[in-house]
Parts: sequence; C-alpha cells; structure tokens
Amino acid sequence: MPGKEGPNAVKPIRVALLGCGTVGTEVVRLLTDQADDLTQRIGAPVELAGIAVRRPNKHREVPEHLLTTDAAALVTSADVDVVVEVIGGIDPTRGLLLDALRAGKSVVTANKALLAEHGPDLFEAADASGADLYFEAAVAGAIPLLRPLRESLAGDRITRVMGIVNGTTNFILSAMDATGAGYAETLEEASRLGYAEADPTADVDGFDAASKAAILASLAFHTRVTAADVYREGIRAVSAADIAAARGLGRTVKLLAICERVTAPSGQESVAVRVHPAMIPRTHPLASVNGAFNAVFVEADAAGEMMFYGQGAGGAPTASAVLGDLVAVARNQVAGGRGPRESAYAALPAQPMGHTPTRYHISLDVADKAGVLSQVAAVFAEHDVSIAAVRQEGRVEDASLVIVTHAATDAALRSTVDKIGGLPVVRDVVSVMRVEGEE
Ligand code: HSE
Repeated sequence: MPGKEGPNAVKPIRVALLGCGTVGTEVVRLLTDQADDLTQRIGAPVELAGIAVRRPNKHREVPEHLLTTDAAALVTSADVDVVVEVIGGIDPTRGLLLDALRAGKSVVTANKALLAEHGPDLFEAADASGADLYFEAAVAGAIPLLRPLRESLAGDRITRVMGIVNGTTNFILSAMDATGAGYAETLEEASRLGYAEADPTADVDGFDAASKAAILASLAFHTRVTAADVYREGIRAVSAADIAAARGLGRTVKLLAICERVTAPSGQESVAVRVHPAMIPRTHPLASVNGAFNAVFVEADAAGEMMFYGQGAGGAPTASAVLGDLVAVARNQVAGGRGPRESAYAALPAQPMGHTPTRYHISLDVADKAGVLSQVAAVFAEHDVSIAAVRQEGRVEDASLVIVTHAATDAALRSTVDKIGGLPVVRDVVSVMRVEGEE
C-alpha cells in the first residue's frame, strides 16, 4: 500500500475537473466513494485540485473550496496533473484543453463533438508535450469500446464497425416499431419521458452519431476522420410507413453509424463513414438493441465478429468510462510514461457517399396494369442496379410493389429512385430506405 504520510509518501495525482453537471457530479461521487480502492489500483491517491464551473452557487453537492470560475488558470496550474473535461461543446473547451495539453497535463474528455472536429489539433498538442489524451466516454458512454479498438485489436485488421451509438434516436425508433406510431408523436413522448432534449437536433439529425462515427473510424482504420468526412442523415423523415414496410419484410429500422474499409478493384483502400437510418433483419444482433441502449458490431479479419453492448449515456455510466480513463492516465503517470498514442499512419482517403456501395428497399404504389413492372424494372437496369427481390400485392385498381436491390453505388440507387418517382404509372413512393446487415 502506498504510504500516505512521511518523507516517502507517494505524490498524489491532482485532478482538475471542468464541468460539474450530471456527469461531473458522478465523477466527484465516484472519486470520493472509491478513493481507497482507486489508490490501491493506481499506486497513488487521486485528489481533486479544483472544479471549474460557471455558477459556483449552483453546486451545493461538491466541496465549496474546490469550486472556481477560472477554468483557464486551473488547467495550467502547477498543482494539476490531469484535466478531466465534461463541459462539452467546442468553445471555450477547445482552447482550455489545448492549453492543458501544451502545459503537459494529460486530458480525459467525454467531448465527442470536439474530438470529431478538432481531434488532430488535440493529438498534436498531446504528442508535442508527451501528455495522454483519453476519451472512452465520448462514444457509447459506459461501453468499453475505444480501448478495445485502440489496444486489444491493434494487432488485427478491422474491416467494419457498425453500431447504434445514439440512445435518443434508438429510443424513438424502438417505440415507433413497438407501437406503429409516427415520428412526431413518438418524439413528443420521448421528450416527455426525458429521453430527448428540449432541442433534439443533435440527436435526431444525426450530428451526435456522426461525431461518434468519426472517432470510431479514426481508431479502427488508423486514419484521421473528422465529422466533415461523415455522410449524415437523421431520423426526422422516418415514417410509420417505413417502419411498417420494414416489419413486413422481417426487418426493423435503426439509425446506424457505419464505418467501412472499402477496397476498389484497383486495390486502393479508402474509408466510407456514414450515419443514416437503415432496415436490418430482425434476426441481426443489433435489431434486439432497444430503448436508449447502444451497441456496436465490429468485424475484423482474425477476430471475426464482436458486439459491444450497454448504456450509452447518463451520468453514472458516462462517469464510469471517465474514471476508467482517469485510472489509466494516473497509472501511466505513476509508471513515468504515457499510454498508446494516436495512430493515423494509414491516412486512407474518405470515400464520398455517392461512390459507397449500399442496398435499397423501395415500396411503391403503382397502377395495376400490364407493363408496369417492366417499366419499373427498366429504370433499375438503366442505372445498372440489380434487383434482389420483388413482391407485388394487388388491390382493386392499384398495387403495392416492394423491391429490394443488390448492392450498387448510392448515387446509382438515388438516381433510380428519383426516376421511378417520376414515372406516370407510379402513384406514390411509399418508403425508401437503405438495407444493412445482410449479403
Ligand atoms: N445524446 C446522446 C444519446 C448521449 O442520445 O445517445 C450523449 O452522447
């Protein structure tokens, strides 16, 4: 047991906490409640040097003497070894973390948006000063996912990462699937129950998932991927008709973050990173991930398929991931070194969405008369899109036509849908959605 007093006492690891909201409060609680265990695990005590907040009088739950409004002074204080950031947002957080790293302080952050937009600047600053930069809590909350990608799978070749990384949208889509209700009323219910923010934009328009996808792709493919490289569609346009069409085909709809290594016929490799709703078979492991839970499916050459599942948000689950990082960083400091560095050596180009191979499901209301199917099929052929399955159900004067394609470029599939929508025999394009998790 490390000595606590006397001339040979072990020097404590001093921590600056930036932010004391839901996650920060849990970080303080875990640091306090588990102080003795953490000391044993690290080999040195961990102590809070200060907590930077905007309004100190709103934080009665933490020791008053630790509170400060001067975050800039705290992050560079000689009394601080590690900065833990749970404020979120880009500014002023970016400047604070860059200052901390430049001053040689290791950083633990849960800030996915900042990493996805300015990750390269932060990694550069960490490398220049020899500090650690850990961010397990930035993707999928409590689920140990980034360390497995960065460390456990470092000897393998990851080919695909596909996951449900946003709990709000998964709650909404799961509820739509369970009740048959539309998007707007389900969002309203999610807000009432506290699963959606008052302004749900970051979640429902896919920004949150896109940031996480950029981080996952960067680690999986040893390439710097930023939010600007990620194709993004949210769930606002998912209708009860889409959900019903999926159900009719033995599928369900999920908002997926998909990161793929794509090899062109020339052998040139690239990365395709996208976030959009997709139909997946109800038998796929991700189909059983319901409510606000997250899960990420990883495929690697030697390891094969793996799935990581758990709570992707919330104070205590996120604080668990933050504490895990803090222990890792503190252990590195006690050992006099630093953890694994960013690996971006592969520098693969980002593939535009239009070139990315996808599969579509298309449901149409068409006139039920001779030659309709051949007109529709001709449009697919014209765009070099191969049809995998067709189902037609006749009604009195019209028919419902459901088509699932083989893989083609997303651009070819979009053009096909645009042209089909304009055919006089097509009365309505009821549902168009990408299909994932099979073939
Ligand atoms: N808003 C996110 C979600 C949690 O709904 O999953 C934080 O990333």
